[in-house]
Amino acid sequence: MDLKLLVLGFLIVAAYWSAEGDADPQAKSSRLLRKRDSARRKRKSDNSFDYFLMVQQWPASYCDTKKGCCFPVTGEPGPFFGIHGLWPNRNDGTYPSSCGNEAFDPSELAGVVDHLNTKWGTLACKSRYNEDFWEHEWSKHGTCSGLTQHQYFQASLDLYNNFDITGALRNAGIVPDDRFYSIANITSALTELLGFAPQIECNKDPEGNRQLHQVYICVAKDASTIIECPASIRNPCQGSVQFPVYGSAPSRHAVSTVEVHASSVVMTESIDSEL
Ligand SMILES: *[C@@H]1O[C@H](CO)[C@@H](O)[C@H](O)[C@H]1NC(C)=O
Repeated sequence: MDLKLLVLGFLIVAAYWSAEGDADPQAKSSRLLRKRDSARRKRKSDNSFDYFLMVQQWPASYCDTKKGCCFPVTGEPGPFFGIHGLWPNRNDGTYPSSCGNEAFDPSELAGVVDHLNTKWGTLACKSRYNEDFWEHEWSKHGTCSGLTQHQYFQASLDLYNNFDITGALRNAGIVPDDRFYSIANITSALTELLGFAPQIECNKDPEGNRQLHQVYICVAKDASTIIECPASIRNPCQGSVQFPVYGSAPSRHAVSTVEVHASSVVMTESIDSEL
């Protein structure tokens, strides 16, 4: 403590001396301050990015984690990958977030709300309103995209519609049947669709099985052209992963509404009869 104070005192005196030596100490120190402030401002407001990550999730894998899931008030999502988000990202692996403070405005989504409800539904139990999910994605990522809100959500939907991940996997015989598929096979099926390899993220279900959870597609700044992912994006998932049956989630992790149970009964029964 004493030593710290001593050092601090010495630094102050030294700074004073060195400032005194300058022809115009006040100009010098204000110049330094300005420089430092602008550097800080620049870091904070550095909204630059190099490409987008378009992230989609397999609902059953999301639901199969310990924290479970809840279906949106608009209803149970279909047996398809759903949009998680369109995220500006930098080649060095960092990313800008919460750029500016343009508030989420649902009126900008007029005309696409139905599509968003079916393709970009929330699975979090924190809120079962899709608007809360979209607001989070817009505020954290969309505000850094350089797109208007309508453009941001429309570009995400276009990417989703133009590249049918669920269908490409199905065409390669990779279907959600609780079996294990190699990441190599999954990647090659999706590369055929996209032209470039996506990145695959896995999660673990409560039994410790690794599951196919999220697919990351790298997209140019035009928000529509698929590009090769930069080296900083490393596929964290290797080997084989389970592609969990869709609809198994509510039976293992009780979800709050009766209709959710009812609508998943058929699938739940077919799982049980397989066991
Ligand atoms: C991968 O694909 C090959 C060729 O279609 C197939 O024989 C093999 O069983 C697949 N393996 C897995 C684990 O998906």
